[in-house]
Order: sequence, then C-alpha cells, then structure tokens
Amino acid sequence: MSSPRETLRIVIAASEAVPFSKTGGLADVAGALAKSLGQLGHDVTLMLPDYFLLRQNNTSLPAIHDTGLRFSLMMNGRAVLGAVNWTTLPNTNVRVMLVRQPEYFDRRQLYQEHGQGYVDNCERFCFFSRAVLEICRQMILRPDVIHCNDWQTGLINGLLQTQSNGRPGFERTGSVMTLHNMAYQGRFWHFDMPLTGMDWRYFNPDQMEAWGDLNLLKTGVAFADQITTVSPTYAAEICTPDEGYGLEGLLSHRRDDLVGILNGIDDDVWNSETDHHLATPYSIDTVATGKRQCKAHLQRRMHLDQRPDVPLLGMVSRMADQKGFDLITGAAERILAQDLQLVFLGTGDPRYEGQLRDLAQRYPSKVAVEIGFDESLAHQIEAGADMFLMPSRFEPCGLNQMYSLRYGTVPVVRKVGGLADSVENFESESQSLQTATGFVFAAYSKELLAETIEKALGVYQQPHIWSQIVRNGMSRDWSWTRSAHEYVAVYRKAIERRKRQSP
Ligand code: ADP
Ligand code: GLC
Repeated sequence: MSSPRETLRIVIAASEAVPFSKTGGLADVAGALAKSLGQLGHDVTLMLPDYFLLRQNNTSLPAIHDTGLRFSLMMNGRAVLGAVNWTTLPNTNVRVMLVRQPEYFDRRQLYQEHGQGYVDNCERFCFFSRAVLEICRQMILRPDVIHCNDWQTGLINGLLQTQSNGRPGFERTGSVMTLHNMAYQGRFWHFDMPLTGMDWRYFNPDQMEAWGDLNLLKTGVAFADQITTVSPTYAAEICTPDEGYGLEGLLSHRRDDLVGILNGIDDDVWNSETDHHLATPYSIDTVATGKRQCKAHLQRRMHLDQRPDVPLLGMVSRMADQKGFDLITGAAERILAQDLQLVFLGTGDPRYEGQLRDLAQRYPSKVAVEIGFDESLAHQIEAGADMFLMPSRFEPCGLNQMYSLRYGTVPVVRKVGGLADSVENFESESQSLQTATGFVFAAYSKELLAETIEKALGVYQQPHIWSQIVRNGMSRDWSWTRSAHEYVAVYRKAIERRKRQSP
C-alpha cells in the first residue's frame, strides 16, 4: 500500500466546476473537492472545457492565461485543433487547465438549449476527454490518478487503460470514475465510435456498448480502477434495476470496487455567516433575527406579501423529472389550501417551467416563480425560506438539502439516495427532538408529500420544537475535508489495483 502521507499527483476531469461553469451540483463538487485535496497537500490539476462565451464577462473569475500549448486530434478523419488556457482555483494552489476549442465550447449553454441536447455532444466531449490525456502527456503531469466525473469524461478511463497505461507519463496511473447521476449516460449511436479513438473491438456489451449504442458512462465504469458515487445509499440503489438505468449488472459485478462518498459543503461559498448575497448574514445564535430579515427581503424581491408569520417554502432546482415536480403540481391544490408561500427558482424542462408559471398566475399572492439560473437568488432562497422542498424521484446526493441545513432552513425530502443519508426525520417531540433535522417521506406519492408538508406546517406553529430542529440542522458538520480524505483512500486503492494489474 502507498504511504497514507505520500503526496499524490491528482488530475480531476469534469465538464463543469465552480467558479468557471455550472449547471448543477457536479460543478460545486468538482470545485470544492479540488480545493480540499489541495488543502490536504496534494498536487491537484483540474481540467475543464473552456466555455469562453459564458465566462468572458464574468469579472469575479481569476485572470486566465494562454499556456501556449497547442494540439491536434483526429476526430472522425478531421484534424481538430485545441489550445489550453490556465489559471488557478481562487485562494488555492490548484492548477486549472481550460481546453479551448471554439467550435465545440463557445456556445450559449453547456450541454443543451430549449430542452434539446446539442447534436454533437458526443464529439465535443470525446474531444475534451482525449485532450485531457494529451495535456497530461505534453505538460508531463505524470498523474498518480485521474479522477473522471460523469459520462462527459468516461472515455478517459478507456483510453488510459487501452492506450496510455504503462506508457511514459502514465506509468501506473490509476483511474477513478465518479457517478453523479445514472440518468445521464452519454448514449450515442454506434457510428460515433470513431470519435472515441478506441478500437471497434471494445464495442462489446462488457465495455463500451449498451443496447446497440455507444455508452460513455459505461465505458468509464468498465475501465475504471475504482468507482465512486455521491452517497452510500445511492451506491446500493444503482446496483438495482430501478436506479441502475441498465448498468446495474456491471455495477453489481464491480460492487467491491464501488463506494458511496457523501458530498460536502464548500464553506467559502455556502456559509450563512459570511454570505454576501444575503440581506443579513447570520449564525446559529442569530438565526431568528437574521432569517426574519432575509425572509422579508426574499418576499419583497419575489413580490409576495411581507408577512413574517406565514411559512415560506422554497425550492431551487434543475427542472427535470428527477426532482419530483409532478408531485408538487399534483398536490398543489391541497398544499395551497394552507396558509403558506411557495418560491421556486429553476430552469430546464419547458413542461415544468410552464406548469409552475401557471401556478404562480393562479395563486399570485402565494406562489412566486423565477425561471432562470440565478446564483444570488439561490442563496437568498436558502436563507429566506423556512422550509426547503426536495421531493426527488431519485437523488444521488443532493446539495441543496445540506445548504438548507446549514442555513437553518428545514428540508422536506423524500427518503432516497443522499437525501436519506443527510436528513433525519422528525418523528415526534418525545422520539427525535434532539436528532431530527427535517421531514422525510418514503413513497413517491403526491398525497404523502402533501401530508408531510402539513405535518411540517403543524410543527412550525410550535416554536420551541421548530427552533430545536433548526439548531440540530445548523450544527451538523458537512465539511469537504471528511469527504476529501475518503477520496484519497479511494485514489490509493486505484493506484494499488493498477500496480497489481500492470505488466
Ligand atoms: P443537481 O446536481 O441534481 O442539479 P444538487 O442539489 O446536487 O442537484 O445541486 C444543484 C446545485 O445547482 C445547487 O448548488 C443549486 O443551488 C444550484 N442550482 C440549481 N438550479 C439553479 C438555478 N436555477 N439557479 C441557481 N442555482 C441553481
Ligand atoms: C448530480 C445529482 C445530485 C448530486 C450532484 C453532485 O447532478 O443529481 O444529486 O448532488 O450530481 O454530486
């Protein structure tokens, strides 16, 4: 076994990371994990696509420089040029390499527009994956481990194991695949296979092929030395047909190499005491007054009545089937029969966007909806709401419920994936007053969601219980250091496995 204190050279590849680009939790995780690993003393390089159009007016980013490095990759018989920009992750020594390729990455969004994925997504992310290895080679990074995230980077593991491993620069480089969401697998028609740069012989049901398609997430899993996902419960769930989305067989087969590591919170970004987006930052000792002011500010901003007494329920989310919007719209009449306010922030599936807009039109004094991506409003909802809704159909980890706990906003969640691992249900005053942090329901049912909200509203009317639940949540530790240590242990296992398997 390598020594636990040995510094590792780690390359993290992801398609988005805070503060450079973000559509969801992957970005929070990639940025925060890289930072934490750097703080533990490891040599970390974060590789990302350079979405130049999306970042060019962002004045909060650090200065970005051209490395001068150029490369060319054959993409289906066409030579495509790439360049590499670099910077460091703010307040860290983590190197960030941004793969610049204007034809692929200078777009208005990261992956899709108007609910439709870009037609050349396979080509874009095969190019990015191949570029990651090319940059490691040209810059002589000599990684001990490459950590891939989601389908966009799954190809790296295939290329590493079949072409690079053992070659100069990649002597015994271990590979880790993190699964943030099994519902997105990067499935493309088989004629895209030449874009991968892999031999057709790997297009088989054990490695790159699934149901006749090229599957880049499967590729990542099949060739990885170690596999992780973002909560222990989800690690078990994805080995079943319900949540494995067709890869449950492969994952069960690799169960010994699969571990669930719960995400953490980046304290520099999500901290109610220092959050510059808030009208009044607050701590566990000042939560009552702080939250009252944040709530009034949120009600004003969302054009709702400024009533301190009315319970305000918030939700910030990608609008996707995963997130349980059908439960909310299905139970809306019953929920809105109560005296409460609902605030939604999100974007995604035009169907859910439309349904929520309709709801806001029908109940203007109770429902406020903002369609779009708004970092500042997301923080203000976390702080200004009394409760946070996450009735997800499935949830690999979920970050918003942890942000809610940290901000003294009581989560109402379904018992799945990381939600089950991070929120403790309030049963009754005698059973769980000292431990409960939220309200949890099991079956995916609109009646149960409505019932659980009604139960939470009842407890909200009992301030001595409510304030204890708030305090329980705010005292929980979600620091990334804990998770980063777990990742390092996985990296060491990956390196050991590679050593054992290399000739
Ligand atoms: P997922 O990754 O499935 O979208 P998570 O709960 O892990 O879910 O992470 C979502 C992240 O994206 C959180 O940081 C959340 O605040 C943010 N987010 C989602 N939608 C929006 C939005 N419309 N505006 C601002 N932030 C958003
Ligand atoms: C995914 C999941 C979410 C998780 C995030 C970061 O997008 O949907 O549950 O928190 O990745 O790991």
